[in-house]
Amino acid sequence: MSRKDTLHQLRLPYSFAKFLVVIVLLNCVALQAQQGQQQASPLNSPAIESKVNALLKQMTLEEKVGQLNQYSAGAPTGPGTGRSDYVEMISKGEIGSLFNVKGAKDTNAFQRVALEKSRLKIPILFGLDVIHGYRTIFPVPLGMSATWNPDLVERAARLAAQETAAEGIRWTFSPMVDIARDARWGRITEGAGEDPYLGSLIAAAYIRGYQGKVGMPDTIAACAKHYVGYGAAEGGRDYNTTEISEHTLRQVYLPPFKATVDAGALTFMSAFNSINGVPASANRFTLRQILRKEWGFKGTVVSDWTSIAETIAHGTAIDGKAAARKSFLAGVDMDMESNLYHQYLAGLVKSGAIPQATLDESVRNVLRVKYALGLFDNPYTEEARTIYGGKPIPPASRELARDAAEESFVLLKNGSPHGQPVLPLQAGTAKTIALIGPLADDAGNMLGSWGADGKPEDVVTLRKALTEFAASNGIKVNFAQGTEIVGGTDAQTNEALEAARAADVVLLAVGEDAGLMTGEAGSRTRLELPGQQSRLVEQIAALGKPTVMIVFSGRPLALSYIEGKVNAILEAWFPGVEAGPALVRTLFGAVSPQGRLTASFPRYVGQEPLYYNALNTGRPVPPNIDLSKPTGSVPNDKYFSRYIDEQNAPAYPFGYGLTYTTFSYGAPKLSATSTSISSLGGGAGTIRVTAEVRNAGSRPGQETVQLYVGQRGTSVSLPVRELKGFQKVSLAPGESKTVEFTVGREQLSFWNIDNKFTVEPARVRVWVAPHSAAGEAVEFEIK
Ligand code: BGC
Repeated sequence: MSRKDTLHQLRLPYSFAKFLVVIVLLNCVALQAQQGQQQASPLNSPAIESKVNALLKQMTLEEKVGQLNQYSAGAPTGPGTGRSDYVEMISKGEIGSLFNVKGAKDTNAFQRVALEKSRLKIPILFGLDVIHGYRTIFPVPLGMSATWNPDLVERAARLAAQETAAEGIRWTFSPMVDIARDARWGRITEGAGEDPYLGSLIAAAYIRGYQGKVGMPDTIAACAKHYVGYGAAEGGRDYNTTEISEHTLRQVYLPPFKATVDAGALTFMSAFNSINGVPASANRFTLRQILRKEWGFKGTVVSDWTSIAETIAHGTAIDGKAAARKSFLAGVDMDMESNLYHQYLAGLVKSGAIPQATLDESVRNVLRVKYALGLFDNPYTEEARTIYGGKPIPPASRELARDAAEESFVLLKNGSPHGQPVLPLQAGTAKTIALIGPLADDAGNMLGSWGADGKPEDVVTLRKALTEFAASNGIKVNFAQGTEIVGGTDAQTNEALEAARAADVVLLAVGEDAGLMTGEAGSRTRLELPGQQSRLVEQIAALGKPTVMIVFSGRPLALSYIEGKVNAILEAWFPGVEAGPALVRTLFGAVSPQGRLTASFPRYVGQEPLYYNALNTGRPVPPNIDLSKPTGSVPNDKYFSRYIDEQNAPAYPFGYGLTYTTFSYGAPKLSATSTSISSLGGGAGTIRVTAEVRNAGSRPGQETVQLYVGQRGTSVSLPVRELKGFQKVSLAPGESKTVEFTVGREQLSFWNIDNKFTVEPARVRVWVAPHSAAGEAVEFEIK
């Protein structure tokens, strides 16, 4: 009996029945999609599992090991292995993944070897560091995080994935979700700053954006890195040792990684650093116990670049063979560039030092991802699909990059405290603008520390955008570079001084060299403006013209020594291809700055590591002591947790950022002043917090309203404040809005003295505030 006949028997008209079937099917799809979002992982698909197992059965020991080897076959991003015989290796089934190969032509060429020459025709998975865009380069991740806009982050990652996948690359080594509390660490630029709550939301957004609907050809696998604790490098020196208690690991460093697993991350990268003496790339506790056992992660763990071999230098492995054995047994599935799994794994399995079952499990972890991505069905990439080829970046992509840049800028100072705001500039009054500084027209640096396929010729610099804007607004621009980022001549300075003297307003474009001073191996012991730039700023500022300093940096800089000399400071990070248009629109008020800091800006480098969510200590400084005065200024100001020569507070705290209007906050109100542990899980025990926020200025604006909590009376000390929620609100002048948050079990749970995530009886302070150092607290009790 045909399907049509069956429907006839049900006495439904065929067309109506068809309609019903479609509705039911659509509902099923919607339900599946919802469930998919909850479980979020094709890694749990039984269909994929049976394909993986069937393939595994056919594989020889050497072919299994082959899937666990990864090599860089393009421009190296670390010290090389000296190998280049990839074609031969692939044809013998000895390579599972290649990276740093760009373009469908090249990826297809390698893929053809795998599919035509190797026995089992297992496709190669191609990877690349697509960190903040592939060709359309967005702001560096620290800048992206300053948008406090996970949805925007997701859209940027989606576009990056489409551009990347079109080039045959189906795996990015991103997002970096390392919490970073030390601005000396160059890689602070690659993450979302110092806060685990915001960091987790942003981490999940990257995963959703890159991975989209996993398996579609325009998606790529994400890689949560660097697991774990890499950002806690002592002294902010890259690759350095970390000491992290289990409490701090669970409270601070792990949450963003857990968020990526919950969002369905397909892969993880194990880090370079040691944690409490054990290298992260040979760490059973973090890899097997936490990631696999507690979180149920079923994707691939790849090492970082030679991080398996580096366990020899760490001292936990005596030679390559021991390094391979220890890292493998600890749970690192794939060897990036150490070339040690290739050399030793088969022998270690044969000798029984590595159980066959453990090897099989790692091979499954790799094959599962390859199946999930649809690589077996679509191993090649249409070369004609190459996203832009020789063509320019399309306007819609540029627009997204510009939006991201505009939302990432943080206005640190605008006239206050000693003067009128100078921003936004008025096209009518700023008739001649001096544009000065080494970063005003530096296309390469706008691309940040990871450029992927970013091209300087795609970048619209500040100079270019300003010149265009000026031409159509009757403004004259005097450009002078003034100095180099490092180095420079007196002639350059004199030229800049001359340009400034003739101007109504001076724009100073200063900052760091993205490639040299930020990102990997870009740690600094000094956090001022590099080279002669400070001197240039001082000389220009001394002319007394309204002076706006635009800072391009990959990290919080210590600007206190120069802050008072200029009228306004805009932190622009490295904004990507649309740097110039985004800056011009912001400076002239077509849009208002709305970025908020996600990493504390120190006054001086000696305050590092510096982060808002710190513990109170046993000797916090009492409020009646003026910390801006050195110790000894007033009686009894010693014996507190302070510096004798500088305040504890940052120059600009986490969450901070000004805009072209001001907001006022009413005191927060609580729905109850006490609750009980037992009722906290359900809606009834949850506390609602409301606060009225008003636009007290004369321009419309966006405010990022932030919820902080701080608990006392608990079994372990908890930070004075922790971010637990935020909302972006847009308000017209004079308009106000009551913003509401809930505080329940999720916001109040912490890793306690008995090593459990739980809620305890406590006094809870709650702030609804514009940043982490502002606001008035209200308190409730958990009984
Ligand atoms: C970096 C990783 C990167 C890898 C591959 C390493 O040096 O630490 O972040 O993904 O190289 O390029």
